[in-house]
Amino acid sequence: MLARVAQLEPKLSLVFESFDWGTDHYLRSGAMMPPDGLQRLASFDAILFGAVGDPRVPDNVSLRSMLLTLRFAFDLFVNLRPIRLLQGVRTPLRGRTSADIHMTFIREGTEGEYAGLGGRFYQGTDRELALQTSVFTRAGAERVIRWAFDRARLEGRSLTSISKGNALQYTAVLWDQVFDEMALEYQDVKTRRLLVDAAAMLMVRSPERFEVVVASNLFADILTDLGAAIMGGIGLAPSANLDPSGAHPPIFEPVHGSAPDIAGRGVANPIGAIWSGALMLEHLGFPSWSDQIVEAIEGAVGDGIWTADLGGSARTEELGAAITERLTHPTTPSATLS
Ligand code: IPM
Ligand code: MN
Repeated sequence: MLARVAQLEPKLSLVFESFDWGTDHYLRSGAMMPPDGLQRLASFDAILFGAVGDPRVPDNVSLRSMLLTLRFAFDLFVNLRPIRLLQGVRTPLRGRTSADIHMTFIREGTEGEYAGLGGRFYQGTDRELALQTSVFTRAGAERVIRWAFDRARLEGRSLTSISKGNALQYTAVLWDQVFDEMALEYQDVKTRRLLVDAAAMLMVRSPERFEVVVASNLFADILTDLGAAIMGGIGLAPSANLDPSGAHPPIFEPVHGSAPDIAGRGVANPIGAIWSGALMLEHLGFPSWSDQIVEAIEGAVGDGIWTADLGGSARTEELGAAITERLTHPTTPSATLS
């Protein structure tokens, strides 16, 4: 897909380098990626991240020592997750259309419940104890909430913040306070705050009420899976992990999960990965290509080229090819000049 865009777009040249890091690498060498993995990735303009996870490796090992390591080490604090029901895709929500399900979810990516601080004590005894400490800093909340406000302003849409201030009196209350303070600076942006439990209910009952949304790491992790379900399935869901300072390369990845049961069978839905590539092009300064890819996805799905998760029998490659062949040069004149 990206190679095709590079063929069509004279201003874009792409050089790919692939790394076979992951669980196979772990099973061979005892590590998900080589010791200098971070250094090697640091100089790239962008990273496309494939699937990860294998039943032979504990998930907390495979994820903590690669995907989460990358998000944290590269300070990728904006995890952008569009939740959009594309034309031609079916949602499990009765009577809902693309106009109702169109959210820009912004998940904090470097702290919160994922901070990785804690420990297990007295293991195997009846006073066994586990601690997983969440970390919320003012600076961490401010930078992602500010990014979300700017995004809402850019999109001309409302911003909803989701937390749980009624029960989490330290972390969530700090988050809410930062949000309220910043709202004063952005009086032109309509805001709303929701508790995470109510937000889960409302995303199903009234998805149209969510436009730009910001939430901490774990809450937005969970809600974006709910979002993926209402946009037609997790195989469709794209994401971008960004360090807006530009100091580190962004990572674009279909929203994970992985599906080891279908790995290698050629039946996975390629849309989440292709759409993530579209987000990459947008980030690299080619937003019209990103739009065109989304339209091509809608075209292919609208023509009934569906993988098994969508209820069809198309193979990964068929759907991928159907999307790719719908791309044309964006500046191609619609009428032939004589
Ligand atoms: C996601 C995934 C990851 C996360 C897992 C695989 C560690 O669920 O990207 O949403 O929780 O961040
Ligand atoms: Mn998740």
